[in-house]
Amino acid sequence: MGMARRLLLNHRNNLHVYKQLRETLLGLVRCLTAAIDAKDPHTCGHSERVARIAQRLGNQMGLPEPSLSDLYLAGLLHDIGKIGVRDTVLLKPGPLTEEEFRHVQRHAIIGDQIISSVPQLERLRPGIRGHHERYDGRGYPDGLAGLDIPLMARILAVADSCDAMMSDRPYRPGMPPDRIDRIMAEGAGKQWDPSIIDHFRACARELYPICQRGLGESVAAAIDLALDSDPFTSSIPANLSRG
Ligand SMILES: [Fe+2]
Repeated sequence: MGMARRLLLNHRNNLHVYKQLRETLLGLVRCLTAAIDAKDPHTCGHSERVARIAQRLGNQMGLPEPSLSDLYLAGLLHDIGKIGVRDTVLLKPGPLTEEEFRHVQRHAIIGDQIISSVPQLERLRPGIRGHHERYDGRGYPDGLAGLDIPLMARILAVADSCDAMMSDRPYRPGMPPDRIDRIMAEGAGKQWDPSIIDHFRACARELYPICQRGLGESVAAAIDLALDSDPFTSSIPANLSRG
């Protein structure tokens, strides 16, 4: 076999392995997302919607493609730390005690720790840890303020709030777009980065329909993936060792 042909085969095999790894990682992310959604049925589909809103916002801000992908993944995983929150607290219908509130707040740190064990997702950690920080410094877990809050976290904070306000909750119906517009404008510079709110307002009419889409898309996608793949076929290419 000629050298050029061997290099070509090697390249093709590497590409195949890369694609397999990429699909595996995407499947892992989707399963983790489904696990968060399954834990709290009231917010089912929230992670997927936050991911799409954050990606659309990033696009509006002119961020490059790799950042948009990271925003999407960080949106899917932003609440992964809720896996470590007690169900009795997470699903409590009434107001939380101070201790319970502190317990829920820990989900930002727990999420950061969970993601730290996957090197390929390292870039998402600032977004996951910081998505409850506030622009005025009164957020958690680190009390960062202004531009000290990582950009990814500032974008996720807007996306997270947008979907939370738009969605029905057991204790209140979803808010109409006009009311969300007002709350976002009032919170610019306090809860959220004012420049991101400017971008939010520029594309809000495209963001709201994302919030109104069907529930549980991430769960459905994870199930589709599981059904599409043949569990008896090895994902390792037969000719891997020949490269
Ligand atoms: Fe959160």
